[in-house]
Amino acid sequence: MHMNELDSLVESAQQLFAQSATPADLENAKAQFLGKSGRVTELMKGMAQLSVDEKKSRGAAINVAKQAIEAALTARRQALQDAELQEQLKAEALDVSLPGRQRGQGGLHPVSLTLERIEGIFGSMGFDVAQGPEIETDWFNFTALNTPEDHPARSMHDTFYVEGGTPEAPNLLRTHTSPMQIRHAVQHVKRHRALLDAGQPMPEIRVIAPGRTYRVDSDATHSPMFHQCEGLWIGENVSFKDLKVVFTDFCRTFFESDDLVLRFRPSFFPFTEPSAEIDIQFQDGPLAGRWLEVAGSGQVHPNVVRNMGLDPERYIGFAFGMGPDRLTMLRYGVNDLRLFFDGDIRFLSQFQ
Ligand code: DAH
Repeated sequence: MHMNELDSLVESAQQLFAQSATPADLENAKAQFLGKSGRVTELMKGMAQLSVDEKKSRGAAINVAKQAIEAALTARRQALQDAELQEQLKAEALDVSLPGRQRGQGGLHPVSLTLERIEGIFGSMGFDVAQGPEIETDWFNFTALNTPEDHPARSMHDTFYVEGGTPEAPNLLRTHTSPMQIRHAVQHVKRHRALLDAGQPMPEIRVIAPGRTYRVDSDATHSPMFHQCEGLWIGENVSFKDLKVVFTDFCRTFFESDDLVLRFRPSFFPFTEPSAEIDIQFQDGPLAGRWLEVAGSGQVHPNVVRNMGLDPERYIGFAFGMGPDRLTMLRYGVNDLRLFFDGDIRFLSQFQ
């Protein structure tokens, strides 16, 4: 009878310990059995009236039960400690098999690749590369390029105007790179002033001017910010034939296609006379047979030559303006210009 009572006491202690999920729960459970008024302690107290013999055997039996309860307690304490340690190890786990965090390699933007390519090709043909301001004056962007105040060509460009508007205070975002024709030529003339004054021949102007340009325009093929690359070749004997040779050479090299065909289609620009739009035609590939416009061009207008500080009776040449964004689209088969300016790494990384 007593034995069964002790056995079930041990059993209920074991159960309660097993149910204790935290060390605090376990200490509470321990108090119920081994504490000052715990059940084991109460049993001990209950022996007071027993005879010496009875105390001996009863005491021994209670001790056995007490030891079993203590053993269960110790085992459970250890188990909870182990579990806690496991949790901690898991939380602080270091997976040495994970690949390290690497910095992306990075690379040039596809349009930058095109600009580098353009500079390389024209560089090999003896062209300098010039850079100029994106905030321009009326004078350089329009007037000096033979586009007077009331000329309809001004409204052909949807211009972003900014505050200002004196020669000292630029007042618009350049709508094309053509103002660089004037800026570069004026510098060139200044540098060779002495030769010119002495009536000596001036070294030719041969320059390209790539850069950002701006117009109020936005759709799949127009962006408010886009790129242009201007070209200018001025000398005493530079003809339309030279334009054809240079630009054909450029296009065939740029697109790595020797059988590329060019077409010079009559057009109008205020700063050239005659003017031509340049179309190209691939002979094979996905665009084969289609005429694709790649540049505006023409013989530099005498008024523009004069605004460069040169005598149009003596100096003559050609200019062209092309769109590197469009060249990039054609070269890589990109059909939406906006992809270039969205900054989506999935798109851009394809060009590395
Ligand atoms: N500036 C013109 C434009 O943005 C392009 C152009 C046409 C540039 C003819 C030239 C040129 O140098 O000769 O539409």
